[in-house]
Amino acid sequence: MTQDEQKRRAAIAALDYIEDGITLGVGTGSTVDFFIDALPRLAHRLAAVVSSSERSTAKLESLGIEVKSFAEIDRIDLYVDGADEATKHLHLLKGGGGALTREKVLAGAARRFVCIVDASKVVGTLGRFPLPIEVVPMARSFVARQMIKAGGEPVWRKDFVTDNGNIILDVHNLKIANPLELETRFNQIPGIVTVGIFAHRGADVLVIGEKDGVRTLGR
Ligand code: A5P
Repeated sequence: MTQDEQKRRAAIAALDYIEDGITLGVGTGSTVDFFIDALPRLAHRLAAVVSSSERSTAKLESLGIEVKSFAEIDRIDLYVDGADEATKHLHLLKGGGGALTREKVLAGAARRFVCIVDASKVVGTLGRFPLPIEVVPMARSFVARQMIKAGGEPVWRKDFVTDNGNIILDVHNLKIANPLELETRFNQIPGIVTVGIFAHRGADVLVIGEKDGVRTLGR
């Protein structure tokens, strides 16, 4: 069973959370791509679809699914997205694809957040994967210095601009023992738009594609 097959398993299992007449938020990444691929046959049950990235929007539209602007939407019933790391407490590290800001907005607006991952993403402590931080371009050096003070090693993701026109710093070697505290602390640093720790608004359900099936963790 390859990692991709585990991702597909988790994505297909997430289809069960779709109820008639809901507004669906769609995340970004290779795991979500499997979810999007399976969505056309259920699209008639959805009242509206919003997306967390230009990339996912293009894929949804290529499959004939209309994507609404989030600005026109007053609530999201279900948000489905992947993660780069997840803990059993349903805290997440996200932003490997650079879509973390819109992902955090949609997750924050969602009544239910179902996170889909393969088994390799489940960790005891967040931080093995470098922490993505979206930063206003002029604050790049300032924020990088703050990350060094915090014990991390920031690396500028070169030749990458987010959908919001910002840059990404990938911060290596941070031990995220207390994700709630670190998310709050980094959120106070001027110039940071979004921290890739999703702890205050973690997942409600974690669907893990494994070798032998699907495991689900919930709140
Ligand atoms: C996108 O910015 C990320 O937050 C993704 O959700 C995350 O990187 C998971 O991506 P994969 O499903 O491709 O591993």
